[in-house]
Amino acid sequence: MSATGADPIDLRVLHRELSGTPFCGRVHHFEEIDSTNTRALREGTAGAPHGSVYVADAQTGGRGRGAHTWSSPPATGLYMSVLLRPSVTPQDALCFSLAAGLAAQVAVEHLAGFVPDIRWPNDLLSRSASEPRKLGGILTEMHAEVTRVRFLVIGIGINVHQREFPPELSRSATSLAIEAPRVVLSRQALLVSLLCALSEQTDTLTGSDAMSARAVLLRRLEARSTWMRGKAVFVHEEQPFQGVTEGLDQYGFLRVRTAAGEVRLVRSGGVRAVEKAYAAGS
Ligand code: BTN
Repeated sequence: MSATGADPIDLRVLHRELSGTPFCGRVHHFEEIDSTNTRALREGTAGAPHGSVYVADAQTGGRGRGAHTWSSPPATGLYMSVLLRPSVTPQDALCFSLAAGLAAQVAVEHLAGFVPDIRWPNDLLSRSASEPRKLGGILTEMHAEVTRVRFLVIGIGINVHQREFPPELSRSATSLAIEAPRVVLSRQALLVSLLCALSEQTDTLTGSDAMSARAVLLRRLEARSTWMRGKAVFVHEEQPFQGVTEGLDQYGFLRVRTAAGEVRLVRSGGVRAVEKAYAAGS
């Protein structure tokens, strides 16, 4: 049996199911790779087309936001990166990353039958009131001039079959298998659902009425996340602060009301619920 066990990725079927999207015929599958994002960045620099997708059964150097790593054991999770070449400026890039979070949320809803929460900018969390845990994350990187994006790489990791995690993640991570134990899970079905949802989102964000598409996306995101409005948060920046979230600005940056006034969060250092921040002793 291969490393993918009973849950293989079948490119022929995949491309048929992606027909009509920019990803059809452009998915590259690896049994093992260092990082799909690293690969996509390299291919993007070499001229790979819009819609190229890099998916791996395992990553030996999976990367998370900041200096974090992304645990990527064989065939237990979805590890994929999408290369997009939208004609936008760097300040528009965040919306594509947020759109990917929404697409991942929709895909999980279709496949696993529950709606994960989205923590800004785009962590997927379980909805347990007492202890939300991380199900998935997104690392968006770009190659850009100051005024023009050359390409974006949106890397998405979703924990699918994991029943256990390395000790350092055992209190903070979860998987679809843990959250939806009676559902038969398939990484390929999740990938198709995710890419179809992402295709819809990116089509509208690059279409003729991109401004209103962006506004619709941001309102939808606020409505489908408990984190974007009215949440007491602790923000880990160089100068940590506490406040209450007040929605997203026109580019998708999080607005936080603090005792000293409104702070617009333009970096994703780490947003945590206030009670969780204290419980963790931070
Ligand atoms: C985070 O929440 O810190 C982001 C995690 C992103 C992980 C994915 S897995 C596929 C892609 N390749 C990587 O090296 N990272 C992203």
